Amino acid sequence: MKTYLVTGAAGFIGANYLKYILAKHEDIRVVVLDALTYAGNLGTIVADLDNERCFFVKGDICDRQLADQLFAEYRFDYVVNFAAESHVDRSIENPQLFLITNILGTQNLLDAARRAWVTGKDAQGYPTWQKGVRFHQVSTDEVYGSLGEEGYFTETTPLCPHSPYSASKTSADMVVMAYHDTYKMPVTITRCSNNYGPYHFPEKLIPLIIKNIVEGKKLPVYGDGSNVRDWLYVEDHCKAIDLVVRKGTKGEVYNVGGHNEKTNLEIVKLTIATIRRLLTEKPEYREVLKHKQKEDRGEISIDWIDENLITFVKDRLGHDQRYAIDPTKISSELGWSPETRFEEGIVKTIEWYLNNQIWVEEVTSGDYQKYYERMYGKK
Ligand code: NAD
Ligand code: DAU
Repeated sequence: MKTYLVTGAAGFIGANYLKYILAKHEDIRVVVLDALTYAGNLGTIVADLDNERCFFVKGDICDRQLADQLFAEYRFDYVVNFAAESHVDRSIENPQLFLITNILGTQNLLDAARRAWVTGKDAQGYPTWQKGVRFHQVSTDEVYGSLGEEGYFTETTPLCPHSPYSASKTSADMVVMAYHDTYKMPVTITRCSNNYGPYHFPEKLIPLIIKNIVEGKKLPVYGDGSNVRDWLYVEDHCKAIDLVVRKGTKGEVYNVGGHNEKTNLEIVKLTIATIRRLLTEKPEYREVLKHKQKEDRGEISIDWIDENLITFVKDRLGHDQRYAIDPTKISSELGWSPETRFEEGIVKTIEWYLNNQIWVEEVTSGDYQKYYERMYGKK
């Protein structure tokens, strides 16, 4: 039986990954370590915490004593590090927090793993490692910077981050690789493009657009909406991480992408059209709308859900123009490829949000409103 430490699993991708591995592998035990920041929500994973296969510890990845204690108590085979400050706009407001969590937090976990997993020294003085252990860092395509109209990020594309968030993730990747090169630590890194799907915090583009439509609010598009992202359904990302943790080659980086490039404006327009179609096909969903207009002959109107809701707002500082991943390495070495077409994934995602308004209310009940007003004004 393998024991995992999964950090940040009360957040978006970590929670999806936790549910995925618990369903996929019967013979595992998972300890979740999460500080429950504004982005972490215990309710998301509470049903998974059975205290037999899955345990929860509230704590900070920067806490050395706690990390050592957990390694001693649970004897982890795998560490999968999702915990991070993840939102680019917030990193522009408060860079230092991103550097502390994303760089020093990762380094703290690496050190705790080193203290727990090293068994001795080889003839050249390199540490020898407990058999079968692995430290996996969940990273991002943003470490490569921005593309022009052509080309893709490969694993050998030079690192060139622009935002405080991506600079912190790049630094963390370099520290992870330094532990591999210096101590021969068994590490892997995945660098993924933009995820979407259930449990995505509504500060990020797709869930924010869905939430705003439900509330009848304007849909803010930064700049002219021409920036391109390569969207991947979150479960496909989880499958890729699972493969890399178990079968990836030590010391290697794997890019993970959806082959699904779209401009932000296209994403917003597609989301509007899909919600409108769903509300037409299944009128019972209209009950979810907080903004109920013209209840005509007993029917809640959706005439107002159209592209006029789009509002172009001030651009993000240093806004990367285009991300696009070349996933050839993970496809050819590990047989991974994205399975969910965007047209299918966006329907699943929207329906999940329409069916889980209580979750949305729960995660946005804290300081979300203040953040929203700071970012977008009172409208
Ligand atoms: P998220 O913001 O939804 O969740 C982050 C989680 O980490 C939260 O549960 C939060 O409570 C926890 N956390 C934050 N600081 C912590 C600390 N100091 N100690 C312990 N826990 C802490 O993030 P996400 O979108 O799920 O991203 C997860 C990881 O994947 C991040 O490392 C991110 O950089 C990376 N990533 C995200 C995307 C994406 O599209 N969302 C794409 C590629 C890579
Ligand atoms: O590429 C992977 C990265 O994807 C991850 O490493 C990050 O953790 C994750 O947050 C995401 O970063 P982005 O900045 O690309 O995601 P976000 O959803 O914030 O924005 C997507 C695009 O939409 C981006 O070009 C900015 C734009 N945008 C975003 C918001 C929130 C808008 O136009 N309006 C908005 O209100």
